Amino acid sequence: MDGNASMKGKVMRKYFYFIIATLFLASAAYAADSQIWGDMRVTNIFGYGQVESKNLGPLFTMLQSEYFPMIFFGILVGVPAAFAMHYLAIGPKVFPHGGKKIYIFSVFNRFVHQVAALSFIILVPTGFMIVFGDKLGGGSLIRLAKDLHGLATVPFAIVVIPMFLMWLKDAFFNFDDVKWMMIVGGYLSKEKRPIPAGKFNAGQKMWYWIATLGGMIMILSGAAMYFMDFDIAWLREITGLSQIDILRASAIIHNVVGFAVVALFITHVYMSVFAIKGAIHSIIDGHMEEEEVKILHSSYYKKLKDQGKV
Ligand code: HEM
Repeated sequence: MDGNASMKGKVMRKYFYFIIATLFLASAAYAADSQIWGDMRVTNIFGYGQVESKNLGPLFTMLQSEYFPMIFFGILVGVPAAFAMHYLAIGPKVFPHGGKKIYIFSVFNRFVHQVAALSFIILVPTGFMIVFGDKLGGGSLIRLAKDLHGLATVPFAIVVIPMFLMWLKDAFFNFDDVKWMMIVGGYLSKEKRPIPAGKFNAGQKMWYWIATLGGMIMILSGAAMYFMDFDIAWLREITGLSQIDILRASAIIHNVVGFAVVALFITHVYMSVFAIKGAIHSIIDGHMEEEEVKILHSSYYKKLKDQGKV
């Protein structure tokens, strides 16, 4: 392992120790049943009142009761339905397996990715259960979903920054992405011709930014809703919002950003599990078929060739 990799390893180990220590202190506070975690987390907000409020209440209630569940239902049914039609009408791209492979994702990439994937496998269904809580009868089932939703946020919160940093340099948009968008990445035809894309194509870059930056917004707005009882003066100063407004704004932001995160998450799973046969292997063993890189990431393949790496 060269000096640089060991340095990266050291920095990442320090980062994880710091995060684990912070979590330990937080859970110690939890054990102490402090104001932030205990029942007072709920009761304390009664005192907020409407002082200096931007009156986001009516807007939030209207959006929450008339629009949010409907939009989430549309995403939950509409996005998979669109992909089912794509799969039946055009079908997956199939590349020969067992040929030469190219190493794409490091052990660290895959570790960070799998932690995010496992947390989302809990976050997304429990998020939907909370949205449709009244239709599912509310009560202990939805309370369990809420607690699981809060708990599953922790591992994602640990890996979202490493994920942002490790793939940042491959995620900047360039002219290839404009060309990719114009042909919808070549996914509207069965033909396999070289597609203008780097290591990540335009679709993957969109998912990266929504998953990481969108993910961070979901964590912060989610934390605001979970902890409810907080009084962060600088936050009120810079936003000009009262505590109750920050709470309502967080709920609105969490739902709206949630639309994009969930819709693109479903897209990501479809693309990486169904639309390209066997693509899932690249995030399990780190290798991608040379043929797949040559066709679906033609600019990246050319770069590797120029560098004599393939
Ligand atoms: C739970 C189901 C998931 C599966 C089956 C899955 C599968 C994959 C696969 C196979 C790749 C490599 C794609 C390729 O280059 O061909 C990949 C890449 C990636 N995954 Fe996931 N993933 C999942 C969840 C997630 C989650 C929850 C996040 C982030 C919050 C995420 C973020 C990414 C990113 C940013 C990439 C690189 C860009 C891309 O390929 O889209 N994935 N994933």
